Amino acid sequence: MPKTSLQGKPICITGASSGIGAATAIACARAGMPVVLAARRTDRLEALADQIRASGGQALPIACDVTDPDACRAMVDACIAQFGSIFSVFANAGYGFIQPFHKSTDDEWRGIFETNLWGTTNAIRAALPHLLHARSGHILICSSCLARFAIPNYGHYCATKAAQAQLATSMRHELRPLGVHVSSVHPVGTATEFFEVSQAIGGRPDPVIQQTRRFIQPPERVAKAIVRCLQRPRPEVWTSLPMRAIAAGITLCPTWADWAMRRARPVEPESEGAPGLDVDREPPA
Ligand SMILES: NC(=O)c1ccc[n+]([C@@H]2O[C@H](COP(=O)([O-])OP(=O)(O)OC[C@H]3O[C@@H](n4cnc5c(N)ncnc54)[C@H](OP(=O)(O)O)[C@@H]3O)[C@@H](O)[C@H]2O)c1
Repeated sequence: MPKTSLQGKPICITGASSGIGAATAIACARAGMPVVLAARRTDRLEALADQIRASGGQALPIACDVTDPDACRAMVDACIAQFGSIFSVFANAGYGFIQPFHKSTDDEWRGIFETNLWGTTNAIRAALPHLLHARSGHILICSSCLARFAIPNYGHYCATKAAQAQLATSMRHELRPLGVHVSSVHPVGTATEFFEVSQAIGGRPDPVIQQTRRFIQPPERVAKAIVRCLQRPRPEVWTSLPMRAIAAGITLCPTWADWAMRRARPVEPESEGAPGLDVDREPPA
């Protein structure tokens, strides 16, 4: 497939105030794309917009909580008002937190789905009518390598990432005949604020960052891969071949995978449950 020029093709990026979103905004602007920077921390967005403009790019910061469909529509409207059209949306905003299922609450589960999954559909629904009208464009969804396998204490997060990946695959088949590409992005551990946020919400140190610090990739690596995918669309963006192989091995051999996971990530037994859940209670007779 020939390389598509991205010059002058606007992209809306959610979660652009830090990490993968911010790095992708810089990489897209360098490739000539006008970028709409969306997140809740507008001071961060304005600083990033200044940085992009100072390097000759075009950027528009906009306050957007992705859990609010109206805010997502306002993001897309602002893109069209400022840059004349929309070519792509990168549904990237998301978070995780460390908590075993038996210690987490329904509100925590609903909250993470509200941002990671419904935030994704809110952003896509806002952009989609314009892409369909133009019969062109590219939707990108930031999932994770954890869409393909799960680790302990991150069940809620892995569930949202698997849902995003399945949504991307299904939409790819639906929208390709209508001229719109859909790709899912599957980063491995990436040096962003993700782990600090995870620790702050979960209220405990995150062993993922402790155990895998040496293997953590920079967000710029993910950003470059995303720009390559926009230039030459493909179904999935992976930035680690070994992780892809591990994910395939886990699918083929779940028994081996469980054994390896127990060795790699031993879980301390915890008996204290979530509010209303007494895990030490005797089962009913
Ligand atoms: N870091 C990793 O190891 C890793 C690995 C695989 C996948 N991912 C995925 O990569 C994506 C980006 O995360 P990151 O690693 O770059 O972490 P990050 O640095 O913490 O960035 C998360 C971004 O999401 C935004 N966000 C969170 N809730 C939001 C909401 N309700 N509305 C709008 N924006 C919201 C945050 O902005 P505000 O707080 O300013 O709103 C921030 O810009 C996430 O979907 C994450 O699941 C990360």
